Amino acid sequence: MKILITGNMGYIGPCLVNQLQRAYPEASLIGYDMGYFAHCLTGAEVLPETRIDRQYFGDMRAFDPAVLEGVDAVVHLAAISNDPMGNNFEKVTQDINDESSARLARFAKKAGVSRFVFASSCSMYGFAEGGPRKEDDALNPLTAYARSKVATEKVLQELATNDFVVTSLRFATACGMSERLRLDLVLNDFVAGAVAARQITILSDGTPWRPLIHIEDMARAIDWAIGREMTNGGAFLAVNAGSNEWNYQVKDLAHAVAKIIPDVSVSINKNAHPDKRSYQVDFSLFRRLAPDHQPKVDLVGAIQGLKAGLEGMGFADGNFRNSQFMRLKVLTHLRECGVLDEQLSWSKHQTGSRCAAG
Ligand SMILES: NC(=O)c1ccc[n+]([C@@H]2O[C@H](COP(=O)([O-])OP(=O)(O)OC[C@H]3O[C@@H](n4cnc5c(N)ncnc54)[C@H](O)[C@@H]3O)[C@@H](O)[C@H]2O)c1
Repeated sequence: MKILITGNMGYIGPCLVNQLQRAYPEASLIGYDMGYFAHCLTGAEVLPETRIDRQYFGDMRAFDPAVLEGVDAVVHLAAISNDPMGNNFEKVTQDINDESSARLARFAKKAGVSRFVFASSCSMYGFAEGGPRKEDDALNPLTAYARSKVATEKVLQELATNDFVVTSLRFATACGMSERLRLDLVLNDFVAGAVAARQITILSDGTPWRPLIHIEDMARAIDWAIGREMTNGGAFLAVNAGSNEWNYQVKDLAHAVAKIIPDVSVSINKNAHPDKRSYQVDFSLFRRLAPDHQPKVDLVGAIQGLKAGLEGMGFADGNFRNSQFMRLKVLTHLRECGVLDEQLSWSKHQTGSRCAAG
């Protein structure tokens, strides 16, 4: 078996590779990424990509279908992957997330790929009152990022057939330690604040609902989707990936962290504008279809794993919200020093020293 993972050099990719190597020890794993965050390593002993069989370094917008030769399954992670980046680079987000994903899927189908797994997002439910959202409930994408996931699902649904089985995993918000850790995710942010400054600052009033999933459990879900039979969910399946137990209000996450890490204070911004994104999600379909690949990590385990990982790195930056742990900061910095152009393509005229000085 040959599996292509796009966007493998990000937050989730290295963890996914570990899972797939356990699940498919004979498989050949190929990565394709343009490396925006390749340098943002955290506690990695070696470059994670040395663990796979072949790494392509390229832009999804110029994807060469020859890469798909002999590939059985595609896991498509490559994207401008959160709301802040999507808001700042809206047109680029559309080009990379919608158009390039559609093109990749068409190439994959033509090349005889039999399984296509798409990393979608529960953020397409946007603001949803009246109980947990099911897959066929109305979508309410509020951002360029969320709209891109809706648009891609639509194209994938049209392309799916018995020979081209597509699974769109609508992931809850990720959390957990990675060899490319991000701190622009709610639980990771809270644990980082607690470890570095004994302080958790909730930017909202703490009431929004946010379902979470640990990256190891995301990898388990992707593993399941690669092996999914058409009879288990249909040629096209969009499914919420997470667990009903992990629907939390943001303030509950903060207090859970403060319970585990001693002497931590929690501040809530009572004057904050109401957070427009708030949704609970129903993960029953995923439980029914994938009983052997259900999330295993619990909230306490996720917090302890992050704490251990951050402490192992000697993490002490109380100002981390302005640091390279935030994906938008990385892209903005690379733009400002001319290493990325306005299309977020690598500039042909870059010099290393300009960024090193920044
Ligand atoms: N992290 C979450 O909370 C979460 C939740 C739901 C879904 N997802 C989805 O899972 C996927 C992976 O998320 P992540 O957190 O690892 O994101 P990430 O931003 O850490 O990684 C994305 C990777 O895609 C690559 N990439 C971006 N544009 C590219 C292009 N034009 N060509 C080639 N490579 C490109 C980047 O270099 C990066 O390595 C994304 O599609 C994201 O939308 C993430």
